[in-house]
Amino acid sequence: MASAVETNNKNGAAQNLMEKAPWTDEQGIAMKVYNGIAIALEIFVLYLKMTATFLHCIYQFFVPPEPKSVNGEIVMFFVPPEPKSVNGEIVLITGAGHGMGRETALRFGKLGGIIICVDINPTGNQETVDLIKEQKGKAHRYECDVTDREAINALAEKIRREVGEVTMLINNAGIMPCKPLLNTSEKEIRAAFEINIIAHLWLVQAFLPSMMERNHGHIVAMSSMAGVVGLRNLVPYCATKFAVRGMMEALHEELREDKEKDYSGIKFTVICPYIVDTGLCKNPKIKFPSLMKILTPQEAADSIVDAVRRNYQEITIPSSLYYINMICRTLPKSVPLYLKDFLDSGLEAHS
Ligand SMILES: NC(=O)c1ccc[n+]([C@@H]2O[C@H](COP(=O)([O-])OP(=O)(O)OC[C@H]3O[C@@H](n4cnc5c(N)ncnc54)[C@H](O)[C@@H]3O)[C@@H](O)[C@H]2O)c1
Repeated sequence: MASAVETNNKNGAAQNLMEKAPWTDEQGIAMKVYNGIAIALEIFVLYLKMTATFLHCIYQFFVPPEPKSVNGEIVMFFVPPEPKSVNGEIVLITGAGHGMGRETALRFGKLGGIIICVDINPTGNQETVDLIKEQKGKAHRYECDVTDREAINALAEKIRREVGEVTMLINNAGIMPCKPLLNTSEKEIRAAFEINIIAHLWLVQAFLPSMMERNHGHIVAMSSMAGVVGLRNLVPYCATKFAVRGMMEALHEELREDKEKDYSGIKFTVICPYIVDTGLCKNPKIKFPSLMKILTPQEAADSIVDAVRRNYQEITIPSSLYYINMICRTLPKSVPLYLKDFLDSGLEAHS
């Protein structure tokens, strides 16, 4: 009620201002015509920019800028951007003690990155550091529960003193309760949100400022195909992984739209794997294994490192799912459901 009165007062005040405006009727009409023309011009320029960009993309699709040879094959329709060097970058990976985190750490270590392995599990984390050092890479080990904000901030300070400023942050640690929502406990739901999404925010808050100071950095987040399509037995997990994609898009926009400073040197990549054989997905069900094969963590890590080095904004693993999903999203909702039921794949519940 109070806000309605406030709005009326505001409208009234605006009306009074219009009445008191020191211009004649003719000048008022001229102002309106001028504003109308200015907006029409802005819309016309916007239309031109969008059409030109769209036509340019179509042109490049058929006539790539510089046809190149990749692995001996001429790429006719799509020339991926050159992979960037990660030599000397300080790469922090959460959940580095196992699975895709470990494999990604090994690959970035081999490419000359200085790897900061962060995990709650000291044994797995140490194994990863040893493996990186065995291949003559540089690695440091830090134990931390990524859900503990104070511990994250203390860790950031320690890394700054002992190693330097983190330039690449890979938010990878995650858990996956896999059961119908009504059988999932409050503790499991809270833990999934704390680790899979809220921890991403704490880590970004701790490490983004130094990237912004130097307009240099890369933030990578592990989402999932469960963050692209809803899947049974994974209701809280899907919610966290959809949230990861939303958070990354919003963060990217926040920096892109900043009028004060250029942050185009900070890149964002979201990774959406389907099923990777790390032990996280305990009961996978795949009707057509040749079509939707379960990948090894090594295969997944190859795709992750490639996507990061080429500054891709979002990838699915396998990549075919990206296009299938894009096409399905343009169709009425009931149509792709037939395909989903036909493929009949997903995860069975486990305790
Ligand atoms: N495996 C899959 O099929 C799959 C599919 C899609 C997405 N993902 C996502 O990829 C990421 C990695 O998955 P994975 O299968 O390699 O996992 P994993 O279980 O093999 O390894 C996860 C690592 O995270 C660590 N970790 C867990 N909780 C932590 C905490 N609170 N603080 C610090 N470290 C913690 C664990 O100790 C472990 O070393 C996860 O975010 C997962 O949701 C996995």
